Amino acid sequence: MTMKKEVCDAVNKQINAEFYSAYLYLSMAAYFESLSLKGFAQWMKTQAKEEEKHAMKLFDHVVDRDAKVMLDAIDKPKQEWKSTLAVLEEAYKHEQSITLRIHTLLDLARKEKDYAAEVLLHWFVAEQVEEEHSTLTILDQLKLLGDSRSGLLDLDRELGGRKD
Ligand code: FEO
Repeated sequence: MTMKKEVCDAVNKQINAEFYSAYLYLSMAAYFESLSLKGFAQWMKTQAKEEEKHAMKLFDHVVDRDAKVMLDAIDKPKQEWKSTLAVLEEAYKHEQSITLRIHTLLDLARKEKDYAAEVLLHWFVAEQVEEEHSTLTILDQLKLLGDSRSGLLDLDRELGGRKD
């Protein structure tokens, strides 16, 4: 069944939102590189790659449905933050906003009886639980560290171990 225009447009908007997420996390990675927090930078680079995978999952779905992929301009991400904590606070807020978008998209797919899109979006609902959890865990750990520089460097070392 071909996608209805409203669903197709909304999925295309989500492709853009996922690429923006990748860009935002890459910008956060660049910020961490400027502070020589290599582990945080590595974690954010890996996260950016995850976001590209999310975008491509939606891209491939649109193609498989014989609908049109319409790529739009990606907004310029923020480039400076006041602290490591501020970056993680923003990353967590961003993931919460993406979760909301996914839920709204799922509501639309249900309203339009687009069962194929609904199945795909179930994957994204579960993925967002992971995405929020992993970001919030780092944010909570940073809060626990307070002003401890050695704690920050330990966490940086730990985050540098992220491979996927
Ligand atoms: Fe694609 Fe981090 O949500």
